Amino acid sequence: MADLTLKINGKTLRLDVDPDTPLLWVLRDHVGLTGTKYSCGIGECGSCTVHLDGEPERSCSLPVSDAVGSEVTTIEGLGLQELHPVQKAWIDEQVPQCGYCQPGQMMTAAAFLENHPDPTDDEIAAGMDDVLCRCGTYLRIKKGVARAAAIISGKEG
Ligand code: FES
Repeated sequence: MADLTLKINGKTLRLDVDPDTPLLWVLRDHVGLTGTKYSCGIGECGSCTVHLDGEPERSCSLPVSDAVGSEVTTIEGLGLQELHPVQKAWIDEQVPQCGYCQPGQMMTAAAFLENHPDPTDDEIAAGMDDVLCRCGTYLRIKKGVARAAAIISGKEG
């Protein structure tokens, strides 16, 4: 066990955890942030995606010690003051089906849009390509990302 200091969704927390524990389990079991989902467990599917300093990371395969010194953002922290444009777009486009993968989809989309504020359809497809959805909501995910980009640019409210 180790006394680690983490910054999560704008709060500084001190946690007594094994430094090799995957960040996902610290978020879910120690901090109570259950929006981030466990799925494949090997960093392949993307359901567990969070941001570290704004960059998407697979929290199921990231030792918590690697998050020390970074700002961790989970789906709960994406729209703290008001809904993030991705969250608004996801509602507008009614993207989720079962919903399980969607926190990871939205965290991936939000990070993607930071680097691609006016993406083409091909860029959206490539940017979201490695986050799996067992319900096959891929068409709505792409529409959601396009709508979020339009909201960010002021073309849509
Ligand atoms: Fe069910 Fe994506 S909405 S897994």
